Amino acid sequence: MRVYEIIKKKRDGHALEREEIEFLLEGYLRGDVPDYQMSAFLMSVFFRGMDGEETRCLTETMLRSGSLLDLSDIPGRKVDKHSTGGVGDKVSIILTPLVASAGLIVPMMTGRGLGHTGGTMDKLESIPGFRTTMTNDEIKEGLRRVGCVMVGFSEEMAPLDRRLYTLRDVTATVDSIPLITASIMSKKLAEGIDGLVLDVKTGSGAFMKDIDDARALAGSMVKIGNSMGVKTVAVITDMDEPLGMAVGNAIEVNECIDVLNGRQIDDLLEVTLYLGAMMLRVVGMEEETDRAVERLRGLIKDGSALKKFIEMVEFQGGNPAIVERRSLLPHSCLSVEVTSDREGFITAIDAEKVGIASMMLGAGRERMDSDIDHAAGIVLEKKVGDYVGRDDVLCTFCTSREEAVSMAERIFLEGVRIGDTPPEKRSRILEVVA
Ligand code: URA
Repeated sequence: MRVYEIIKKKRDGHALEREEIEFLLEGYLRGDVPDYQMSAFLMSVFFRGMDGEETRCLTETMLRSGSLLDLSDIPGRKVDKHSTGGVGDKVSIILTPLVASAGLIVPMMTGRGLGHTGGTMDKLESIPGFRTTMTNDEIKEGLRRVGCVMVGFSEEMAPLDRRLYTLRDVTATVDSIPLITASIMSKKLAEGIDGLVLDVKTGSGAFMKDIDDARALAGSMVKIGNSMGVKTVAVITDMDEPLGMAVGNAIEVNECIDVLNGRQIDDLLEVTLYLGAMMLRVVGMEEETDRAVERLRGLIKDGSALKKFIEMVEFQGGNPAIVERRSLLPHSCLSVEVTSDREGFITAIDAEKVGIASMMLGAGRERMDSDIDHAAGIVLEKKVGDYVGRDDVLCTFCTSREEAVSMAERIFLEGVRIGDTPPEKRSRILEVVA
């Protein structure tokens, strides 16, 4: 078998055999296949795609490249959620303790932000002392004692994905359905879970801008998950506008604590409760979505979810006093208000533009190895549908990069549309793929 022939076969649009995929990927992991050949292969997959069998084989090979978390000795139903990435998507930080407070075991594994999208791991690291790296034994101890943990994918889990993702990131091959499917599912299937809920984002701030692509990605991941023994459901949610009010790291954690304290932020709560309900349903704890939503709402109202959040933060070395004293979270030296130059109803706040502006202010990274400023970001004062007067504040920038403010402001304002009539109110839950 020759690597050249495998690349050529995919380039010409043919389906690869299992042995060919294994030969190429295992060779890459050993260091026998150089980055330039793997890049050519990834680009061929980007243009030619992969069928279901090839995608499954790619996922399995990536899954087998590392170790699996064995949770069989931990009693209880284990469930996780994964989002394909968006702007202001802090759902996991609320959802993990919330679902754990309902009695499920949640080994939430998360990633870092890249480009205009944020990453839960970065957000959590803005909590002073919070450790996002734990050994498998520590993860299991956390699950036994607290019922949930939130950690980064360990070095040992699906190491092939980490190497491939770094390469995809610099070769413009991230937004490919089979590559995203294998990347996400190889990590999630290594977690030892019984059920998985996927939040597939679509819209300007998502990888999948188009709903048909989101459907195809959702279908592809659901099929792989179910065929490999993990009950998997996908929910397609809207990511045209940032989720909630905050976009950044510490400011998003702050918003999560607000929600756990009972603050009503409509779109954020809608998505969180719906995904949570699906997590309860996918492992058989509830049969109906509405009942599951009410159950979760009750756990926020009576303080159980916040209590679980505090336990989790404490277990992972973080300072639980942040809940009472938000000033313990990192905060920026500069706060700049961005105002509207006309009055009317907000009809759009482009999530991608807000994500880019926030990244420029220091909240995100352009490359995997860039540093981020945990305090930086954007707090929206208005959402789509709100009325805004001339000179009213649209958002506040939090940053230490004074030099980035005017460019970030220009980009932010490019994404804001104001009209004379209010837009139709839309749900952020678009479809369920089961
Ligand atoms: N998130 C991942 O983990 N992998 C991808 O390929 C895209 C989003």
